[in-house]
Amino acid sequence: MAKRDQWGSKLGFIFAAIGSAVGLGNIWRFPYVVYKNGGGAFLIPYFVAIFTAGIPLMILEYAMGHKYRGSTPAAMARAKGSKLWEFLGWWPTFTAGFILCYYSVIIAWSARYLTFAFDKSWGSNPNTFFTEDFLRVSSGPFDLGGFRWDILLFMALIWLVNWFVCYRGVSKGIEKFSKVIIPTLFVILVIVAIRGITLPGATDGLNKLFTPDWSRLGDISVWTAAYSQVFFTLSLAMGIMMTYASYLPKKTDIVNTAFVTGLANSSNEILCSIAVFSILGFMSNSQGIPIDQISKDGGIGLAFVAFPQGINLMGDGFSNILGVLLFSCLIFAGLTSSISLLEAFSAPFTDKFKISRKKIVTVVSIVGFIVSSVFATGAGMYILDIVDEFINNYSILVVGLLEAILIGWILKTKVIQEHVNPISYYRAGKWWSISIRFIIPVMLGVMLCMKISQHLT
Ligand code: PHE
Repeated sequence: MAKRDQWGSKLGFIFAAIGSAVGLGNIWRFPYVVYKNGGGAFLIPYFVAIFTAGIPLMILEYAMGHKYRGSTPAAMARAKGSKLWEFLGWWPTFTAGFILCYYSVIIAWSARYLTFAFDKSWGSNPNTFFTEDFLRVSSGPFDLGGFRWDILLFMALIWLVNWFVCYRGVSKGIEKFSKVIIPTLFVILVIVAIRGITLPGATDGLNKLFTPDWSRLGDISVWTAAYSQVFFTLSLAMGIMMTYASYLPKKTDIVNTAFVTGLANSSNEILCSIAVFSILGFMSNSQGIPIDQISKDGGIGLAFVAFPQGINLMGDGFSNILGVLLFSCLIFAGLTSSISLLEAFSAPFTDKFKISRKKIVTVVSIVGFIVSSVFATGAGMYILDIVDEFINNYSILVVGLLEAILIGWILKTKVIQEHVNPISYYRAGKWWSISIRFIIPVMLGVMLCMKISQHLT
């Protein structure tokens, strides 16, 4: 049997895992979730969720991949010697594949916007530019509408990067890439945040973001928002962390590594919030418009409409550079995540069918590029919304719930503890076991019921 790929160093693995966690969501999702759910007060449920669900589940995923030396379906199958478990491992694998198709598109848009930023080609009305000129949004999901070759070209470019990095392998590809990109991303973000804070009106934005509204802590939806943010941002329940951990050397401190990954991602999220809200504060101040109206929900609107508007408002020579930096952040954050998705989707085929990494990565990249080209049409936005809604609302919740129940109750947490504790400095002890067996299933169960009832009514 061919020798399994391995990370060159523990640091390389940590950078790759942080690369997966730090993604587009850190920039355009987290700041808004904080803003909408009690500002500074939200940090309490958020950190509770990090310590009672995010890091515990990450320890579990790392341990499974590490102990059973396999990507998700293989690790699940080996854990219980069961076909059903293997099948359940394919679910997150395919979820990763779907996300990859639309995630790459958004990175491609960001890359195209980076080129626009040099001379502010979006003109004086970035809103109509984005929907009408750029996306040519059609009337609905079945109307393909316009099509832009330049989007397709940039998508090909992003897929080429995804392909190249994974094709080169774990240590020569993913590890090398993450070790360069992640520190660079942090440096750029610090520059953007410093520029943001020094803009007039920035403090208003930060006050709006961080002023705690303690009354919100009694609201269950604030707590569920914290748990869903944590699952999404730590790239959990998608087979990624299991797959990445399967390439770790035998002696690796699992608990410590999970803490480092989780907390590095949180500090990145806070840094992103400072950068984003200082820019929004400046925009609100200079136009006399409340922040809510500048970009209502974050996401695509924030990146491709509000950012360009803010850059227009700054108007000075540095603003073009700031635009380039902002879009590079999106591209860098996005790429290290999309690469993790490609790896999590491809590795199971190598494990199961012994197809070589080079072959499977190439096939997946070509098919993925073709599938994602539908997003270059005018219907792209609608399809993206539908897929995103399904994955974020259901797949993560169901897979997370299954992992916690299967491993916490059927395989038993003891099996994981016996693997993790002898090689870790801090133990995965009572708090860990309680989180896996009780807190995660209860929280995810409640969230799932809430979602289903929302859809039924
Ligand atoms: N963690 C990424 C983010 O915050 C999202 C992501 C989830 C990326 C799952 C890959 C896989 O944007």
